[in-house]
Amino acid sequence: MKKKILVTRNLLPENEERIKKLFDVKLNKQEKVYTSEEILELSKDCDGILCIGGNKFDANIFSKISNTVKIIASYSVGYNNIDIDSATKKGIVVTNTPEVLTDATADIAILLLLGASRRAYEARKSAEEQKWVWATDFLLGKQMSGSNLGILGMGRIGRAIAERARGFGMKIHYHNRTKLSADLEQGAIYHDNIKSLFSNSDFLSINCPATKDTSKIINDETISYLPNGAVISNTARGDVVDDEAMIKALKNGKIFALGLDVYNGEPKIHPEYLKLQNLFLLPHLGSATLKTRIAMGNRSIDNLENFFQNKRPKDQLN
Ligand code: 8YV
Repeated sequence: MKKKILVTRNLLPENEERIKKLFDVKLNKQEKVYTSEEILELSKDCDGILCIGGNKFDANIFSKISNTVKIIASYSVGYNNIDIDSATKKGIVVTNTPEVLTDATADIAILLLLGASRRAYEARKSAEEQKWVWATDFLLGKQMSGSNLGILGMGRIGRAIAERARGFGMKIHYHNRTKLSADLEQGAIYHDNIKSLFSNSDFLSINCPATKDTSKIINDETISYLPNGAVISNTARGDVVDDEAMIKALKNGKIFALGLDVYNGEPKIHPEYLKLQNLFLLPHLGSATLKTRIAMGNRSIDNLENFFQNKRPKDQLN
């Protein structure tokens, strides 16, 4: 008999076709992200769950989740939404989808750095008004070439951003828990602490995972280490930024411009951000290309398939 899987959000047709062949699936055909309570109810008779990054599985949910659920396969690389310790205690395997979204997310980080530094939001509005007067100092931005790019979190995505930024003529600096080998560094300069990295970052790309150690790691103090007029992008998670500190720095010019793809409490955005001009915002599009989303779907289905064939899923996290 086929195993029963709750799929918490829509899948692209290619992925839906495949998962239907392998499993007895409960699909989400609604225009909504299920709440945790809905997931608890709908998964009562399921053997596994294919979820998205926006579904929260905390200790309370794990205390209530059906004993029939043996695996949660997340259609995301980030898994800060899942309390892995509680899953492990409950004997539930958790998997994610690394590698396949590295390029798409690195592209979006470059878009954010360019969009913020070249004032794309103000520029779009000016173009729409059709009244701009060309002037030598009209909407001047910051130039990436010749600048230092600091990368906070030099994992796969951080390294893919570094590769792209080198093509823009940027010098790469990074901070990571551990220094990378020379072949992964590709000439990037390692800093063993944030103060040293930030004081060398004309541009800063945030790419560290959201953990209790990185929560609000971008705050009043760390922002003060940056050169005046720095440009920042965040393609990691909203949790790593103290929004109040960031808004203050955007208002007083310490930060020239900010590009954001991720937010605290998304899809809600801190209302003060929306009043600022020096911001380039995207609605969490890091992995949003057809190629990548199909690959993410396949990767989560591979993990489910392997698990139910009694093989260790490639992306098992616990
Ligand atoms: C997803 C992401 O769009 O993979 C991640 O960690 O943030 C994005 O690719 C989102 O989490 C939906 O699962």
